[in-house]
Amino acid sequence: MLSTTNIVMWVGMVLGILGQGSYSLYAPADNYLLVCGSSQNVTFNDHTYVPDSLKSSVSLKSQGNSLVATSNSTAPFPIYQSARIFTSTTSYKFAIEEEGRHWVRLYFYPLPGHNLTSASITVVTENFVLLHNFSFETFNGTYLFKEYAINVTSDNLVLNFIPSNNSIAFVNAIEVVSVPDSLIPDQAVTLSPPGHFTGLSGFALETVYRLNMGGPLVTAQNDTLGRTWENDFKYLHVNSSATNVSVNPWNIKYGASVAPEIAPNWVYSTAETMGDAKVVDANFNITWVLPVDPNFTYFVRVHFCDIVSKSMNSLVFNLYINTDIASGNLDISNQAGNLDVPVYKDLVSNTSAGSDTLSVSVGPDTSSGSMDAIMNGLEIMKISNEARSFVGLSAVETLLVVPPKKNKIGIIIGSAGGAVAALAIIGLCYCCLAARRSKSSPQGNTWLPLPLYGNSLTMTKMSTLSQKSGTASCISLASSNLGRFFTFQEIMDATNKFDESSLLGVGGFGRVYKGTLEDGTRVAVKRGNPRSEQGLAEFRTEIEMLSKLRHRHLVSLIGYCDERSEMILVYEYMANGPLRSHLYGTDLPSLPWKQRLEICIGAAKGLHYLHTGAAQSIIHRDVKTTNILLDENYVAKVADFGLSKTGPALDQTHVSTAVKGSFGYLDPEYFRRQQLTEKSDVYSFGVVLMEVLCTRPALNPVLPREQVNIAEWAMTWQKKGMLDQIMDKNLAGKVNPASLKKFGETAEKCLAEHGIDRPSMGDVLWNLEYALQLEETSSALTEPDDNSTNHIPGIPLTPLEPFDNSVSMIDVANSDDAEDAATSAVFSQLVNPRGR
Ligand SMILES: *[C@@H]1O[C@H](CO)[C@@H](O)[C@H](O)[C@H]1NC(C)=O
Ligand SMILES: *[C@@H]1O[C@H](CO)[C@@H](O)[C@H](O)[C@H]1NC(C)=O
Ligand SMILES: *[C@@H]1O[C@H](CO)[C@@H](O)[C@H](O)[C@H]1NC(C)=O
Ligand SMILES: *[C@@H]1O[C@H](CO)[C@@H](O)[C@H](O)[C@H]1NC(C)=O
Ligand SMILES: *[C@@H]1O[C@H](CO)[C@@H](O)[C@H](O)[C@H]1NC(C)=O
Ligand SMILES: *[C@@H]1O[C@H](CO)[C@@H](O)[C@H](O)[C@H]1NC(C)=O
Ligand SMILES: *[C@@H]1O[C@H](CO)[C@@H](O)[C@H](O)[C@H]1NC(C)=O
Ligand SMILES: *[C@@H]1O[C@H](CO)[C@@H](O)[C@H](O)[C@H]1NC(C)=O
Ligand SMILES: *[C@@H]1O[C@H](CO)[C@@H](O)[C@H](O)[C@H]1NC(C)=O
Ligand SMILES: *[C@@H]1O[C@H](CO)[C@@H](O)[C@H](O)[C@H]1NC(C)=O
Ligand SMILES: *[C@@H]1O[C@H](CO)[C@@H](O)[C@H](O)[C@H]1NC(C)=O
Ligand SMILES: *[C@@H]1O[C@H](CO)[C@@H](O)[C@H](O)[C@H]1NC(C)=O
Repeated sequence: MLSTTNIVMWVGMVLGILGQGSYSLYAPADNYLLVCGSSQNVTFNDHTYVPDSLKSSVSLKSQGNSLVATSNSTAPFPIYQSARIFTSTTSYKFAIEEEGRHWVRLYFYPLPGHNLTSASITVVTENFVLLHNFSFETFNGTYLFKEYAINVTSDNLVLNFIPSNNSIAFVNAIEVVSVPDSLIPDQAVTLSPPGHFTGLSGFALETVYRLNMGGPLVTAQNDTLGRTWENDFKYLHVNSSATNVSVNPWNIKYGASVAPEIAPNWVYSTAETMGDAKVVDANFNITWVLPVDPNFTYFVRVHFCDIVSKSMNSLVFNLYINTDIASGNLDISNQAGNLDVPVYKDLVSNTSAGSDTLSVSVGPDTSSGSMDAIMNGLEIMKISNEARSFVGLSAVETLLVVPPKKNKIGIIIGSAGGAVAALAIIGLCYCCLAARRSKSSPQGNTWLPLPLYGNSLTMTKMSTLSQKSGTASCISLASSNLGRFFTFQEIMDATNKFDESSLLGVGGFGRVYKGTLEDGTRVAVKRGNPRSEQGLAEFRTEIEMLSKLRHRHLVSLIGYCDERSEMILVYEYMANGPLRSHLYGTDLPSLPWKQRLEICIGAAKGLHYLHTGAAQSIIHRDVKTTNILLDENYVAKVADFGLSKTGPALDQTHVSTAVKGSFGYLDPEYFRRQQLTEKSDVYSFGVVLMEVLCTRPALNPVLPREQVNIAEWAMTWQKKGMLDQIMDKNLAGKVNPASLKKFGETAEKCLAEHGIDRPSMGDVLWNLEYALQLEETSSALTEPDDNSTNHIPGIPLTPLEPFDNSVSMIDVANSDDAEDAATSAVFSQLVNPRGR
């Protein structure tokens, strides 16, 4: 019997090839088959995969480098011969023609020579975590294929590849292909408790198993939806319980309810039936045991087709999932309406309690008198969990560390055709390539079409070139995730060759010029003094700090240039310059009290974020009125991280360090003990507050001895409760006394002799907000209690934002579309004759 069916099947296959056109084939609206990092088309399973760089409707966005690796020799399939390697979060964006579910298929194989085995890969879409911290080091296999069905509800799909800490990520090939709406329902049956699972369309699915019972491997070329079906044998609980059967695939008759897209005829034409059917004691089940992650719920689809019976209604059996009966007395030919007509059952199930397997069984229903049971195909798909993830409980928001918003893009592609090409050489190459690219690439934070990359010949040329130019520092800078790289020529063009008329200021570090980029963006260009050793360290610190930090009240870095031993930082332009110039020493109009408070609050928010927003707290070390800059809307931003230090670790209380900072602002405790804490910034901020109120420099040596230092001078008046005697004359009579009192007290606390007595920036912020509210509602208020920092009667308190930390993340995530109205424009390090 077997041999005849096999012959029939073979003939059928030959005929089938000819007859394939008889079904109207599903034509996906979106059909991206990309082979990453390749320079030529690759054919795999009869499909042509095109290089990711050649597809115009796919774009790539990266803050760092993406490299390319190729290898002919070892790849298990042609599709794995090349890879694109990411050193920082990189996003592929696919234009989507038709909303709805799409297959997202990812291929991974660690090509030799690039340490890809130790790469740690995280892949997220905008909504779902597909892979998290996957590494071949802990994986039992040589290559990885993943398939997801994701409902795309906008006109694009973004796939983000995130390397973990100091690691790299890579991908060999990507498919994004439309799925017919009818394939995956919104509803399915649940067993324990019995009921219905609705809303499946809101979840993503990951294929875990797709089995062709009793049949061979069916690959994408025999499945109109590009699916792969593997043989079931290795999942059989008892080998001998099942016998495979097969018929001519072209005998399968798709009815009205089951289209060929549900599963190909190759799947329905083979099956497993009872191993010892028709023996006297036929009372057993065929059971498949499938290892799964117990923390998830699964969508299970079981395919049936009565290819064995001679007459209708002769195959009646039970279907079980775990130990639950999923379908009793299942008469498949009756349900299908005929023999050789497919049917399927959809279920949603967990693993059985306490187990990490899902088992699916079929067995005869003793009451029906039928002795056989059958199964043709089985699909098991993981349903995304409450964190919208397929791995653990970290959500997209926590994994997608959003790159700095305004940074320009540097994409770099080098070909590492030869297996020897080490990352370091490519890093070297980066300078050269980036320099070339940034000249020609479009400006702005836009998605770029994937650039073409050179072949190994150009790479060799490049590396020689860059070695000659000797920009060794590029290795370290290029390897981290920093803003845009500018060529020295671009900087020259932007600043009109450092024209003295565009000089904005001079500081210890160097000079700051106003500039205009090719696209018209106004920038502030800070050019380091090349001879300053300290400068080099500060330059690096500032780039590193700024690249890590993003906040509405911190300056933003656009990019840098370290060509020709230059140390140039490019910031967005801050139209209204430093706070100091609005206080004294210029003829700018005097700021009203409310605006001064708002500026202080903004700066306090920036500092509070520095102290608490990052994983490790950051101490600014040089808080002063020239480092608080104002944009065109007078929004205050803290600038100049050249001296910043990460704060004490949890188990330490301070950082020991040589005293740096600006006189007049220096925390006396820090000065004495050389121990740096966040409270040193709080002290300096207290000086700033006094300066804002009294509009005089922190140190003014021409004044009588007791007045030279604003901190001492103002404190004596504050202690007498007579701060109004020394405050800015322009404010006289225009400040609510309660607001002034609160402000004075806040500054006084900041200037406490001992750090331990000073408030945190969060407390300072709270008190300043309070002072602002007192000012705003001044007339309506009775004198509030002292220290009533927790409640102000009658004032609807705006809850303190969690210091914009999360807000700016959300912001940034949407930054492509939403140009932030409060665009920051920043420069730093302005004229301060007494600085440092
Ligand atoms: C690669 O495949 C695409 C799409 O199938 C085709 O348009 C293109 O001509 C092919 N290129 C080469 C070099 O074969
Ligand atoms: C891959 O194979 C092609 C042709 O067989 C050859 O020209 C090329 O050098 C090989 N590349 C590598 C990296 O081995
Ligand atoms: C691979 O990693 C090892 C240590 O982790 C390092 O010594 C080696 O240089 C790396 N190789 C490449 C090609 O990056
Ligand atoms: C990522 O995986 C590596 C091992 O592959 C492990 O050492 C590390 O702790 C994991 N990191 C996280 C955040 O899960
Ligand atoms: C890895 O594979 C080997 C052989 O295929 C098997 O014996 C071993 O149990 C597997 N380990 C894990 C953790 O799956
Ligand atoms: C990154 O590294 C730090 C310390 O090395 C660790 O605490 C953190 O969990 C790591 N993050 C990831 C995603 O691996
Ligand atoms: C995709 O999601 C949208 C919006 O939630 C829904 O209307 C649609 O039915 C879903 N499509 C599929 C195929 O699940
Ligand atoms: C079917 O079973 C026979 C013997 O039981 C085996 O030789 C054959 O390879 C099986 N066919 C498939 C497709 O598994
Ligand atoms: C798939 O189709 C090809 C021809 O398109 C055929 O040669 C092959 O045997 C088929 N494979 C299976 C498993 O049906
Ligand atoms: C089932 O088949 C596998 C693979 O052929 C074999 O290794 C295993 O020993 C068999 N188990 C039993 C119980 O026959
Ligand atoms: C078949 O499996 C189900 C579920 O595990 C079980 O309840 C039933 O007793 C089994 N039937 C036989 C005959 O073993
Ligand atoms: C399931 O989740 C628990 C905690 O939520 C975790 O300890 C366990 O490792 C997870 N199991 C798997 C297989 O991931």
